[in-house]
Amino acid sequence: MDEGTENTGLPERPFAGPRLLGATLAGAGLLAGLGTALAGYALLWEPFRVRLERITIPLDRVELPPQGLRILHLSDFHFHGMDRRERPKIRQVLRLIQGMEYDLLVHTGDFLERDPGLENVLTLLRALPRPRLGAFGVLGNHDYVSYALRTTLRFTWQSFRAREAQEGRLPWGPGLSGRLRMLLRFSQYILHRHLDSAPAGANDTVRLRRELERHGLAILHNQALRLDQLHPQAPRLWLAGVDDHRYGRPDLPRALQPVPPGDPVALLSHNPDVLDDPHMDRVQLLLAGHTHGGQIRLPFLERGQHVADPLARRHAAGYFRHRGVHVYINQGLGEGIPLRLGAPPTVSLITLVGTGDPRAATLRRRPEAVRRNGRLRGAWKAVGLPRTR
Ligand SMILES: [Fe+2]
Repeated sequence: MDEGTENTGLPERPFAGPRLLGATLAGAGLLAGLGTALAGYALLWEPFRVRLERITIPLDRVELPPQGLRILHLSDFHFHGMDRRERPKIRQVLRLIQGMEYDLLVHTGDFLERDPGLENVLTLLRALPRPRLGAFGVLGNHDYVSYALRTTLRFTWQSFRAREAQEGRLPWGPGLSGRLRMLLRFSQYILHRHLDSAPAGANDTVRLRRELERHGLAILHNQALRLDQLHPQAPRLWLAGVDDHRYGRPDLPRALQPVPPGDPVALLSHNPDVLDDPHMDRVQLLLAGHTHGGQIRLPFLERGQHVADPLARRHAAGYFRHRGVHVYINQGLGEGIPLRLGAPPTVSLITLVGTGDPRAATLRRRPEAVRRNGRLRGAWKAVGLPRTR
């Protein structure tokens, strides 16, 4: 034994460096592989798995036909004019709703991402079964402007800096601790607000509106109409629509002007932020889009982006009640940034049931049956009722 070496009685182990390096490389490779697989799934698989969500919502103070009022709710097509991504979605939607009968077709905006997407919007509209009463919609922010997606990170960073400055948090502090604080705050900002890009140009909203109306879909631009004025057998329910909150001129009081006090109103708005409007106390049902259900929903972090300001993160999509208003947010069919994770593209069939309907009584007693992620399958199971089609 060498002088100065202590004899511990333990057998000597060979140097573990190479094994440790190998394990680290294998772990890093595994993580990179998982990341690539997840990105591939979000880019190439989930955006094409369109699902049909069925939900029944009970409305108070409304007389509705025994079968209810069936609404096909579409939203957020975000068509760019990229046939390779958009045509398969169109085919899936048509397959899902083949033979379906419904009273109203509504679209809650973001028909297109940029003008060349219009042709695919019209292709889908032409192929849909005709609604019994009519088709109506509202415009979304993307119908007004196209965005430069490559600017997303820079634009989000600038909005973040502007907000930090406005709230007196700049500078973040010197050295490493200041940088870490900044990084932490930026991560929180991204996770709690939706990512946004700089507007790159205006879309031709006049042409979009004209073509939609030529194909039988009327845009409710701060307007309301009574359904029984469309068809003598339709229920006495007002359908109203407001313009987009970011690039349009939303005016809920103007939309509700023809509605006598106390009459029931179903409202279409692209952006659920309309819930902050004090006139929402005149509205019973809000149908909205815009959130894409969070679009990127990371495990443990709930919805990664796209949450409207007045809403809790868990309300990025589906059915819930907000200050007495029944709210349904559609996850949408398309996306600007072409990724979806945990928030598949969705079309919805909503059945409204009215006063006196036994289903309404059951659903009012057990609102969780409706709320359960907005899935009618779950709702029917919970209340033990047959599915309608
Ligand atoms: Fe959208």
